[in-house]
Amino acid sequence: MILIVDFGSQYNQLIARRVRESRVYCQIEPPTISVDAVRRLKPEGIILSGGPASIYWKKSPKVDPGLFDIGVPVLGICYGMQVMIGALGGAVARADKREYGMAELTVLHPEGLFKGVDRNTPCWMSHGDSPAKLPPGFHATASTENTPIAAMADPTRKFYGLQFHPEVVHTPKGKIMLRNFLFDVCGCRRTWTMKSFAEESAREIEAAVGKSRVILGLSGGVDSSVAALLIHKAIGKRLTCIFVDNGLLRKDEAKKLKSVFKEHLDLNIRFVNAGKRFLSELKEVVDPEKKRKIIGRVFLEVFEAEALKIRDAEFLAQGTLYPDVIESQSAFGGPTAVIKSHHNVGGLPKKMKLKLVEPLRYLFKDEVRKLGKTLGLPENLVWRQPFPGPGLAVRIIGDITQRRLAVLREVDHILLEEIRRAGYYQKLWQSFAVLLPIKSVGIMGDKRTYEHIAAIRAVTSKDAMTADWAKLPHKLLGVISNRIINEVRGVNRVVYDISSKPPSTIEWE
Ligand code: XMP
Repeated sequence: MILIVDFGSQYNQLIARRVRESRVYCQIEPPTISVDAVRRLKPEGIILSGGPASIYWKKSPKVDPGLFDIGVPVLGICYGMQVMIGALGGAVARADKREYGMAELTVLHPEGLFKGVDRNTPCWMSHGDSPAKLPPGFHATASTENTPIAAMADPTRKFYGLQFHPEVVHTPKGKIMLRNFLFDVCGCRRTWTMKSFAEESAREIEAAVGKSRVILGLSGGVDSSVAALLIHKAIGKRLTCIFVDNGLLRKDEAKKLKSVFKEHLDLNIRFVNAGKRFLSELKEVVDPEKKRKIIGRVFLEVFEAEALKIRDAEFLAQGTLYPDVIESQSAFGGPTAVIKSHHNVGGLPKKMKLKLVEPLRYLFKDEVRKLGKTLGLPENLVWRQPFPGPGLAVRIIGDITQRRLAVLREVDHILLEEIRRAGYYQKLWQSFAVLLPIKSVGIMGDKRTYEHIAAIRAVTSKDAMTADWAKLPHKLLGVISNRIINEVRGVNRVVYDISSKPPSTIEWE
């Protein structure tokens, strides 16, 4: 494994992605990690990430200098290289101006990290301070016009530094440099596959859980489904999944999930039908935050009541993913403004003293999908678009009634059917319908109509932090609109949402 020390660069998740794409396992840890803890991880190599600080700031993050004595290769990137320089007896010059953007790298020694890299190649710079004096044992291995020491190496101790960012696409040969570090310098082998991960993590779960039981809230989304399958692989029927039907699901969703998880995959599941309870608590509630809060609270109450019936339960499983873990452990992650309360983040049954099992906490989303495939999750669930915890409640603007739910379910069903038929389902981050509380006039078969408006939302995105409205073909939009107006009673107009995020959000509420 490779240890990545996180100095807070916006790119450090990318470093991890690059390493794992090379099928080498890696883990990101804060700079406060002790030398002992590093030894226990038994890394084949250490990468010090970039970061926003200057090594001369009083409180700038550093690593324990003992890290350089444990005999493991180290690669410092950007600020990470400067930390290395500072720790090993070199010097960094404080700069008045930041160097930011593309630069032409000239390779002085085409060996080590630069094996197979052209003499001149573009690289991406983003730094304030610059390397000024090399530590003993090092020599400069590449330069740019503004940065004479753009890269350095001490091949004897296997220490390397790159002032630029090899992990970003703007450094086209960066992948080769990272691979040279992983395979030539550290001697890593390509063993990180989802099959090996599944087996190892099933063993760990079994050892941690012992004879007791694990409870898991199954939503049908990729994360909770894959977590369930992995734990099931480890402890079989000692995993109890609880599926809360909040009455806010899409057409036939609960039925379909039941058939997949219970009949097909043979999981131990309890289905709780709580639709009536949710709807009565949501009666006449219009405010989006109030809706979310109510749904979050009722979900916990229902879930907890069901969980209390399970004897010997000591663990609660959650499908937490790596980006959330990194964010919460980052020394630099400040509090952000609450735009929408997400009920499934941080909502734990408090009455029960359950320990957490988070088997996906070191995986990125695409790895979770691969793992799902390895574990036999059906393709349509592996590639499911995200669906919000509060479900259709945040897609019915205004108050939520059975009648409106029924209308939206039909509209949504037609939309998804056509999106799938046209081959767009997997290309889109999300595609869904929203029911508006306003009516408009229409004409159908010579008669005046006065009915509701449905909005269609389809977006492309990488991580839901930003999103673009999808440029769906007009013909497809036409088919969707025609079918909805013709087939769903109560809707006589369809509009397409052409707003991106930001400034809009993906969901309307
Ligand atoms: P917004 O609307 O904030 O949504 O742009 C970003 C992404 O998060 C999903 N979303 C939720 N997911 N529980 C969830 O599990 C929630 O309460 C929730 N609210 C929004 C949304 O569908 C989009 O993918």
